[in-house]
Amino acid sequence: MKTYLVTGGAGFIGSNYIHYMFRKYGGDIRILNVDKLTYAGNLENLADIENRENYRFYRADICDADAMRAIFAENDIDRVVHFAAESHVDRSILDPGVFVKTNVLGTLNVLNAARGAWEGADGSYPDGKKFLHVSTDEVYGSLEKEGEYFYETTPYDPHSPYSASKASSDFLVKSYMDTYHFPANITNCSNNYGPYQFPEKLIPLMINNALQGKKLPVYGDGKNVRDWLYVEDHCKGIDLVQEKGRLFETYNIGGHNEKQNIEIVKIIIRTLREMLPEGDPRKDHLTEDLITYVTDRKGHDRRYAIAPDKISAEVGWYPETCFEEGIRKTIAWYFANPEWMARVTSGAYQKYYEEMYSGR
Ligand code: NAD
Ligand code: DAU
Repeated sequence: MKTYLVTGGAGFIGSNYIHYMFRKYGGDIRILNVDKLTYAGNLENLADIENRENYRFYRADICDADAMRAIFAENDIDRVVHFAAESHVDRSILDPGVFVKTNVLGTLNVLNAARGAWEGADGSYPDGKKFLHVSTDEVYGSLEKEGEYFYETTPYDPHSPYSASKASSDFLVKSYMDTYHFPANITNCSNNYGPYQFPEKLIPLMINNALQGKKLPVYGDGKNVRDWLYVEDHCKGIDLVQEKGRLFETYNIGGHNEKQNIEIVKIIIRTLREMLPEGDPRKDHLTEDLITYVTDRKGHDRRYAIAPDKISAEVGWYPETCFEEGIRKTIAWYFANPEWMARVTSGAYQKYYEEMYSGR
């Protein structure tokens, strides 16, 4: 039975990944989830699996080298899937320091703990030990011309403190592969959406605001383009890369689903109206009049678009959920989980929202 160490498993993609893996492998794998539980980590996301015998949660900071070493000493870990990070670009503009600490130094600690546990005296690694570093397409910078895509060979050109910290962490992983022959892969994925996404990100923020009749704050001219992927398709890609990908390789993950932000906001309004039951009073205010153009994000990248040719050709990955279906599944999940949204938007979120959006 393989043992997986998942970092950041209480966050959006990490919790979806843990659900995906238990759905796929059931009792044939063991998952250890290491998470500090920052504002973005929420054990409620994993409530339905927390009592499984083949699951264990460790509350720990990846920046704590002793804690990371202890987890490796206690367990014979086969696979690491490293999600833990500060993930929100706007927060990185307000406070870059914690992004460098968690995303760069934290990644270094996880690498060191894995290398310390796995590397033999002769510098070799036992078969089957694999580390997958979950990264982002934002490391490639911004595409300005129609028809251009991010390939694995595209030079890194990060612009935000978030993407600079992720680029640094990617380079650390690359350096471990090149220097120590450390058995790893890097995946660079486009924008995810789906259940359990914290409402600081575009799609859940717009769903939550629209349902409350609040303004929908669109940055700049609303024409920035992101390449949206349903989160389960990302999870499937991570698993396929770890199972079938060539070690030491990078794989881009994205499903050719480019949309301008304003299109996304209008689709959300339209889909919410379609999905709310007849007579629901929230329908009355749910119109495009809620859209409010606000001051642009500093250094706002214009367009991201992934070329998934390599992952398709080498491991047979393809996205299964089209945007129309994915957005309906996502909205249905938020409809079914109003208490989740109420809890995550109480307290500190209000302060964040005020700081980020008032006077914008
Ligand atoms: P998230 O913010 O929802 O979750 C991050 C998780 O990491 C949280 O559970 C948080 O508690 C945990 N964490 C943060 N700092 C930690 C620390 N010091 N020690 C231990 N745990 C810590 O993020 P997400 O959107 O799920 O993203 C997960 C990963 O995927 C990140 O590495 C991100 O860069 C990458 N990624 C995200 C997207 C996207 O669209 N969201 C796309 C591509 C890549
Ligand atoms: O591309 C992958 C990246 O996608 C991940 O690496 C990041 O972790 C993830 O947060 C995401 O980054 P973005 O900055 O693209 O996502 P966000 O949801 O913050 O914003 C999406 C677009 O919507 C972006 O162009 C900014 C815009 N936006 C966002 C918010 C929160 C708005 O117009 N209004 C908003 O209120």
